[in-house]
Amino acid sequence: MYDVLMKNARTVLPEGVGTVDIAIVRGRIHAIGRLGGSAKEILDCSGLWVFPGFIDPHTHVHWPYLHESTRDNFTAATRAALFGGTTMLIDFALQREAGAIEALSARRGEIEGKIHCDVGLSLAITDPDEPSEEEWTQLASAVLAYKGYMIYRNRQMMLDDGQLLRLMHRSRQTRRLLTVHAENQALHDHFLLEAKSAGISGARAWARAKPPVIEEEAIRRAVWMARMVGIPLYVRHVSTAEGIAVIQKAANHQVVFGETCPQYLALDESLYDRPDGTLWIMSPPLRPPRHREALWGAAMGCDQVVVGSDHCLFEPEQKAHLPFDQVPNGIPGVETRAPVVWQGLRARGLADREAAVQLAELLSTRVARAFGLYPRKGVVGVNADADLVAFEPVSVKMSAETLHMGSSWSPFAETEGLGRVRHAVAGGRVKIRDGEWTDEPPSGRYVGS
Ligand code: URP
Ligand code: ZN
Repeated sequence: MYDVLMKNARTVLPEGVGTVDIAIVRGRIHAIGRLGGSAKEILDCSGLWVFPGFIDPHTHVHWPYLHESTRDNFTAATRAALFGGTTMLIDFALQREAGAIEALSARRGEIEGKIHCDVGLSLAITDPDEPSEEEWTQLASAVLAYKGYMIYRNRQMMLDDGQLLRLMHRSRQTRRLLTVHAENQALHDHFLLEAKSAGISGARAWARAKPPVIEEEAIRRAVWMARMVGIPLYVRHVSTAEGIAVIQKAANHQVVFGETCPQYLALDESLYDRPDGTLWIMSPPLRPPRHREALWGAAMGCDQVVVGSDHCLFEPEQKAHLPFDQVPNGIPGVETRAPVVWQGLRARGLADREAAVQLAELLSTRVARAFGLYPRKGVVGVNADADLVAFEPVSVKMSAETLHMGSSWSPFAETEGLGRVRHAVAGGRVKIRDGEWTDEPPSGRYVGS
């Protein structure tokens, strides 16, 4: 007897779209096809789209920013993720004060036993010379990737070029993916001063202090260094036409992934003119509309582009009444990634099927490949983890009241979304049935390397 049987599932399979039944046994996909046999639980998927569970490569759950921390925890965030069709998060541990080993172990303490879907970590390295040789081996076996910040000197997180190069060598030696936050600190310092001297303030000033060149230059530098060292590179939250063009060009001859985010695909810097514009302060900032179309072009045309949420749940009171350069960066989004992207793909002329295939690629398959999780994840295939999400293809509102993130605001409240989760299965357990949370206890696993 199967544990779960998903019936009549119109599914994105590696060979294309097909309508199949999917049988789940002991947390894995056991069989796919027109299946007989009984099951402890049957999920009717008629009229729904079934995808390999989406993987969010970029979340900041309970994450520090200057004097603040994001207002969520892993139990709440993994629940909200499932309501958005995401069955795995890749979050961060931060080496900074504690040291890498201690930081990783503390972070795992926040995760293990408390999560509703699987979670892995990227380790943000702030001093590549601190871990010993043996510790690097230990770290590599417990995380999916490293992250190097090329900016945020004020948060003691920035690596200079020499440190970044040494981290790249560690990435090669330990065979872990290197991911970067690519913005040029010195240029930002300059433009920040310029904005302040011109008397510009508020959210607009943030965009002025971080013009596109800041991102483009840092991406060029990181791509060039990664080529020199001979490692794959993953560039986080690409927001500009120029930045993504550098990646697309480099992708012809080196392994370089470009991650963009729903906010750069669907929103633009005009939000900074609103009275509550500081809510959208993030890094990199929102851009003029021309960048959006370039990012969509790359997302639909380059198989090394993925979409992550950069979920960072700060509440309005944490972002208000502060000078613009002190506002905690980031917005909530772990639940809204799929509806924003799916709607955007349809709006750009993709037919139903093409849009579904592209959605699975951008949110699941390519992320799994980039982080070394494929084919355990990122695919509807026999023996893969039974992480599966069934969506009703209906238009949805993304306001704070309709979402589950526990945030009192939604950056996408005025954006049209497509897709509501009807069923979500994570690790073979039904977490959402017919749109209702099943009250399954936390059963997600920590995913190391
Ligand atoms: O604005 C962004 N990207 N927020 C994330 C916070 C961080 O620490 O990178
Ligand atoms: Zn981030």
